[in-house]
Amino acid sequence: MKLEGKAAIVTGAATGIGLAIAQRLAHDGAAVVLADVADAEPRAAELRASGARAVALRTDVADEASVSDMVERTMKEFGRIDILVNNAAIAATIQLRPFEDITVAEWRRMQDVNAMGPFLCIRAVSPHMRAQKTGRIVNITSGTAFKGAPFMLDYVASKGALMTMTRALAKELGPAFVTVNAVSPGYTLSEGNLANEAFRETYREAAIATRALPRDGWPADIVGAVAFLASDDASFISGQILAVDGGSVYH
Ligand SMILES: NC(=O)c1ccc[n+]([C@@H]2O[C@H](COP(=O)([O-])OP(=O)(O)OC[C@H]3O[C@@H](n4cnc5c(N)ncnc54)[C@H](O)[C@@H]3O)[C@@H](O)[C@H]2O)c1
Repeated sequence: MKLEGKAAIVTGAATGIGLAIAQRLAHDGAAVVLADVADAEPRAAELRASGARAVALRTDVADEASVSDMVERTMKEFGRIDILVNNAAIAATIQLRPFEDITVAEWRRMQDVNAMGPFLCIRAVSPHMRAQKTGRIVNITSGTAFKGAPFMLDYVASKGALMTMTRALAKELGPAFVTVNAVSPGYTLSEGNLANEAFRETYREAAIATRALPRDGWPADIVGAVAFLASDDASFISGQILAVDGGSVYH
């Protein structure tokens, strides 16, 4: 119960990697907000049934008012915010295509959700973390930004932005003893990715072929790194990007 007494927000927690992270943080003792544009209430109810403190909030991370409502309601419910996991993204629904086919509106929406979303969430929690003089922010980035994966330029650019934000914000929030780190998954078989046939056919075997550990990656493979970075054990680690991809990229 390493996270006993802590309160966490996990965005994009209705499914996939975000849900697995919320479940793990709750298992480790944290009170958890599952924030998502989709309905996360059934998942929050399961966590409550297992004895955890969990609340689902309908949140669009790209909407400033929605994010500030998320933070206000978390404070009302749990009285503190110790951990923010920026996981929500346009991710498993990606349609692979040449960059010339990406419209300006699609590009903007991708950056709004995947890069501005984390900015809005961090900006909204930072007064509370600064006041507490402690906090853990974990951004979920992507190995595609290390590898230069083709046919999803808007996505890769958004994750590259989140990696550089991780480093810069570690410096800005460090004086308040708030850590900012990133976990960078490789291709992971979330429910959404399993359902995206074109994505699966292009990446599943290809990803395994690049790994030191030649097997599929699952949401359960990602959560330990996030739980560690969210814990007191990681209090002297900040600005780091930890690849959790079976040993595919070194940086
Ligand atoms: N699965 C992978 O192969 C993989 C690899 C590298 C990085 N990642 C990253 O891990 C994270 C989770 O991946 P996944 O496969 O579980 O994704 P997913 O697409 O299955 O789930 C994303 C979740 O985010 C939510 N979401 C989308 N837009 C939102 C918004 N505007 N506001 C709030 N919630 C929103 C969705 O409703 C969904 O519940 C993402 O950040 C993704 O980029 C995934």
